[in-house]
Amino acid sequence: MSTPPLLEIWNLTASYGRAQVLFGLSFALHAGEVLALVGRNGAGKTTTLKAIMGLVPATAQKATFKGHSLGRLPTYKIARLGLGYVPEDRRIFTDLTVEENLEAGRKAAGGTRSPWTPERLFKLFPNLAEMRGRRGNQMSGGEQQMLTIARTLMGNPDAILLDEPSEGIAPVIVQMMAQAIQAMKAEGVAVLLCEQNWAFAAGISDRAIVIERGEMRFQGSMAELMADERLRAETLGV
Ligand SMILES: Nc1ncnc2c1ncn2[C@@H]1O[C@H](COP(=O)(O)OP(=O)(O)OP(=O)(O)O)[C@@H](O)[C@H]1O
Ligand SMILES: [Mg+2]
Repeated sequence: MSTPPLLEIWNLTASYGRAQVLFGLSFALHAGEVLALVGRNGAGKTTTLKAIMGLVPATAQKATFKGHSLGRLPTYKIARLGLGYVPEDRRIFTDLTVEENLEAGRKAAGGTRSPWTPERLFKLFPNLAEMRGRRGNQMSGGEQQMLTIARTLMGNPDAILLDEPSEGIAPVIVQMMAQAIQAMKAEGVAVLLCEQNWAFAAGISDRAIVIERGEMRFQGSMAELMADERLRAETLGV
């Protein structure tokens, strides 16, 4: 691709105390793509996202977002550059309604795109539109997860890091989640998608990175990974 990547990571390492868990990951996320980060339990997917966001001790030869070095920036400044992060645990206000949660996610534009509004988001997440007055504590886990993503979009990110958005949610919601991620991509938001759910990741991602015990085993197109049955069996068990 000719345009410079949004997110560029060279030789990322991370440790918890003395235990090193990432061993030199290098990859780039380009505007408008969905990049899957897949690997078994404990491979280091979550740690990779946390390392990018400055939430765990990490080193990298290069870590930039839109050309800004992420080096020693605190997490909130990284987010303000236009990099959204949706961790595994759902982060919504359970006593606020869907609409109020979205309004709470509105902040000074960090990205360069035109601001999202609840109405625009409801087109991506039609099921949320139907429950706009409902409080968070009356929503299913999957609906809460979608609301967390929608709320993150209110912060106007150019790219978003999603940690296992399909985990533990009903199949019908997984389907809606896949559509919402594709709609985000169509709106120009780049997505780095950590997933254990192979079918989900394979169905919506353009490229993939496979990590095994903190090391990169594959980086390439999703079609190439689909075709490599041996590598998938070895590293993903699928
Ligand atoms: N807070 C922590 N302290 C110490 N070790 C940790 C901590 N969090 C994760 N680890 C270890 O780091 C390694 C990578 O974990 P990580 O959570 O990044 O994997 P993952 O690919 O996200 O796994 P999962 O599919 O279970 O979410 C594992 O060996 C894990 O046990
Ligand atoms: Mg994880």
